[in-house]
Amino acid sequence: MKSKAHSAIGRLLYAQSGGVTAVINATAAGVIQTARAHRVPVYAAHNGILGALREELIDTSKETAAAIAALRHTPGGAFGSCRYKLKSLEANRAEYERLIDVFRAHDIRWFLYNGGNDSADTALKISQLGKAMDYDIRCIGVPKTVDNDLAVTDCCPGFGSVAKYTAVSTLEASLDVASMADTSTKVFILEVMGRHAGWIAAASGLAGEGADAPPHIILFPERVFDEAAFLAKVKATVERVGWCTVVASEGIKNAEGQFLAEAGTRDAFGHAQLGGVAPVLAALVKEKLGYKYHWALPDYLQRSARHMASKTDAEQAYAVGKAAVDYALAGMNAVMPVIVRTSDAPYRWKLEPASLEKIANHEKKMPASFLTRDGFGITPAARRYLSPLIRGEMPPPYGREGLPKYVQLKNAKVAKKLPDFAH
Ligand code: F6P
Repeated sequence: MKSKAHSAIGRLLYAQSGGVTAVINATAAGVIQTARAHRVPVYAAHNGILGALREELIDTSKETAAAIAALRHTPGGAFGSCRYKLKSLEANRAEYERLIDVFRAHDIRWFLYNGGNDSADTALKISQLGKAMDYDIRCIGVPKTVDNDLAVTDCCPGFGSVAKYTAVSTLEASLDVASMADTSTKVFILEVMGRHAGWIAAASGLAGEGADAPPHIILFPERVFDEAAFLAKVKATVERVGWCTVVASEGIKNAEGQFLAEAGTRDAFGHAQLGGVAPVLAALVKEKLGYKYHWALPDYLQRSARHMASKTDAEQAYAVGKAAVDYALAGMNAVMPVIVRTSDAPYRWKLEPASLEKIANHEKKMPASFLTRDGFGITPAARRYLSPLIRGEMPPPYGREGLPKYVQLKNAKVAKKLPDFAH
């Protein structure tokens, strides 16, 4: 998409939101490099929308071109992220007035919010501010989530890399358990993120194909956990193959609708903090079947593993950042660049703007056609969808110490112009 010529009046504010990913900083690089090419100054909000409310703004012009380029291969969120839910305009007008005050004080004319479905909701609300409060602000949502649960877009930047980490880890750990199974471990259980959508768990299915190849059992949040069927399949697999690899989504629930493992805390959006389903399943396997097990909970390791990022994912992450700036400078508002798949093989994709209204607060689950009839595996259709997303490698440069050369930005704060705001 070509942006219209414009005078460099005003600034662009970029903010990262929600759980970060291995490639969200590639999106930041796409945003900042594209804005620089148009000579539009970019501020970044420190810790997402909270930085905007607190007037904690970072002047990205203080960063060198090399530092911004290095964001392309640095995981985490370089400017800090947050989970913070803006209420409706009616419920908390003061917060919106504060945002407009901050935007006005710093001549922010474009706001780019890089996040998942909750963040698309925040971006939509802010996009409505302009009209409601008579301030000219364009707001663009920029997609990101390892959960891959955003509506409209074919996939979400961040997902391809966690999918690759999950498929590779499933394959590698399975080689390990296969070696040990005769006299030691018979069952390996890997727990993966994804909340209410089983996309990450599904990606483990790329590790192998056929009944005897790992993972032998995938547990999806889209299916009620059936203890008897699960134990029967573990037993049958160990008896037939000699060992069994299980991949469980953190979001699996029992027939009563309770999460098998809930940490007991909730975030600002009311989401339960999940984690710990693997030890619950392992204890069940030990108690009912007596098999020795190992389990793993990669947790943040899976979404920060930039060393194993998917090239496709890293490229898409950069591209959505670039497109978001193009859309903003072309005068668009309340849209998000979404990924449109134009071909499976060879894999081809393009970007187009989609209305935030269609994306905010929707959650895209795995379609039934992607799950096998017994609910423990993925179908060829799922493989066709998932496979291109983990393709290609784009490792970070490594230093002599054997560690990746990740960048630490200066993150120089802009002088505040307004009094503090209590929120
Ligand atoms: O953003 C998505 C996600 O990675 C989920 O898959 C996971 O359940 C959640 O974030 C963890 O959130 P937090 O880092 O806030 O605990």
